[in-house]
This record gives sequence, structure tokens and C-alpha cells, in this order.
Amino acid sequence: MDGSRFAGKVALLTGAASGIGREVARQLGSEGAAIFGVDIDEQGLAGTAEQVAELGGTMRHRVCDLRSREQCRDAVAAAVAELGRLDVVGNIAGVNRFHHFADLPEADWELIFSVNVDAVFHVCQAAIPHLLETSGNIVNLASVAGLMGQAYTVAYCASKGAVVQLTRALAMEYVKTGLRVNAIAPAGVDTAMNVDIQFPDELDWKLMKPYMGHRGLATASEVASLFAFLASEDARPVHGAVWSADFGVSAG
Ligand SMILES: NC(=O)c1ccc[n+]([C@@H]2O[C@H](COP(=O)([O-])OP(=O)(O)OC[C@H]3O[C@@H](n4cnc5c(N)ncnc54)[C@H](O)[C@@H]3O)[C@@H](O)[C@H]2O)c1
Repeated sequence: MDGSRFAGKVALLTGAASGIGREVARQLGSEGAAIFGVDIDEQGLAGTAEQVAELGGTMRHRVCDLRSREQCRDAVAAAVAELGRLDVVGNIAGVNRFHHFADLPEADWELIFSVNVDAVFHVCQAAIPHLLETSGNIVNLASVAGLMGQAYTVAYCASKGAVVQLTRALAMEYVKTGLRVNAIAPAGVDTAMNVDIQFPDELDWKLMKPYMGHRGLATASEVASLFAFLASEDARPVHGAVWSADFGVSAG
């Protein structure tokens, strides 16, 4: 792999404390990007920064609760103030909850939409003026759940569908500029999100089966490699794309 794809570039990554966000920080950091990682998990952020440093990269970090409009916008301002520019924005943080729809608490609907959708809106709106200056790009973590329905996750599916369309609509609106906007839509990835899931009682597992696919989980590192490609100049013509990374789950 070319070690200089992100030399001199600055990447703001949400969800950098864990899973896919941590792997993206490691990969972009090891390829020269100065990372500005944000997350609600301070300890996880420090762990990621340590790993990035071990790989020879640099990462600054800031605790940020993405449910707060102000904290989203402050995170973008801080990244630019501390690192001088912005080339890549990764909206990676996300949350999921499983419920029978009839029992879906409004608080969980609001949590899922505030982290998975509203934060993407606030971060993008604050970041785009800076990205236009650098002909930079945005990569959003959508999901196969944004492309097809999955039982017991109505709020998550609706939120990821919103991320898919937010990505496409932004791509159209900025099509005459140098900005690129893309999304990745994985199926299951081997991260904390898939550990200790609280499933509701009396699930009909047959309804979940099409979603699980036939080839197991992707690794966070595999998804991060796709992210790194999309965020790099190698993907210059790729704009408004929603890249499936689901072992064919959405192809059927
Ligand atoms: N793991 C999967 O199977 C899978 C599949 C498809 C899509 N995705 C998406 O990939 C993205 C990354 O998820 P992951 O698998 O790495 O999970 P993860 O749980 O390892 O990481 C999610 C990160 O988001 C952070 N976060 C949650 N709420 C936050 C808040 N209010 N403010 C700031 N940070 C907050 C968490 O602290 C965590 O570090 C998510 O958007 C997720 O929806 C995951």
C-alpha cells in the first residue's frame, strides 16, 4: 500500500474510540493523516490515540457527545483550529437497539436519530465550508440496514436510510464543486456493536436470517480499508456512492 495517500491531510473522525472508527484512525494515521478523533468514550479515544502513535501517526482527540448540536459544531471548529485544515470527515459513530416495533421506546428512537442522523447533519454543515477549501471529502457509515428492511430495528433502519439519502442529496447539491460525499453500507462487522446485543423476547429468528448472510462478519479493518480508499485521491471519480460491504446480503 502507498504510505503517503494522506500525507499533509487532516481527518476528523467521529466514533474514533472503538470498532470501525478506531480502525479508520489507525489506517489513515499510518498513511500520514493527522487525525482528530471525537467520541463520547474518553478512555477509548486515548486507547486509539496510543495505537495511532505506535503506528507512527498523530491523533488529537476530544470528548464529544454527538447528541449535542453545539458539541458537533465545536468539534469541527476545534479540528480546524488545532490542525489548520480539514480534508476528510468520517461520520462513523452510531448506535443500534433491538425492539418489537410495538414496544420501541420514544427515547430509543430519539437516541438513534440524534447520533446516527442529526449529528451527521450538524457535522457536515459545519465541516463543508472547510472541505470546499481543500476539495476534501465526507465518508458516512451507513449500513445494509439503510438499503433493506430488518425486523426489530425500525429506528436503526430508518436512521441509516436517512444517512444513505443524506449522502446522495449532498452529493447532488455539491456536484459542481471539488467536494466528494460517499457512504459505506456494511452488513455485520465484528465490533462492540455486535457484542451483548439485548434482543427482545419472542424473536422470530427466521425474519433475521436473510440479513445475516452466508459468510459471517466483516472485520473493522476491512471496512476501514474501504473507507481509506473512498477518502483517498484514488477514488476521485467516486461521488454520491453507497458502497455495499455486505458479502452480497443486499444483492439478493
Ligand atoms: N458493527 C456492525 O455490524 C455495523 C454494520 C453496519 C454499519 N455499522 C455502522 O458502523 C458505525 C461504527 O460502528 P461500530 O461497528 O464500529 O460500533 P462501535 O460500537 O464499536 O463504535 C461506535 C462508536 O460510536 C460512539 N458513540 C455512540 N454514541 C455516541 C455519542 N452520543 N457521541 C459520541 N460518540 C458516540 C461509541 O462510543 C463508539 O465508540 C456505526 O455508524 C454503525 O451503525 C456497524
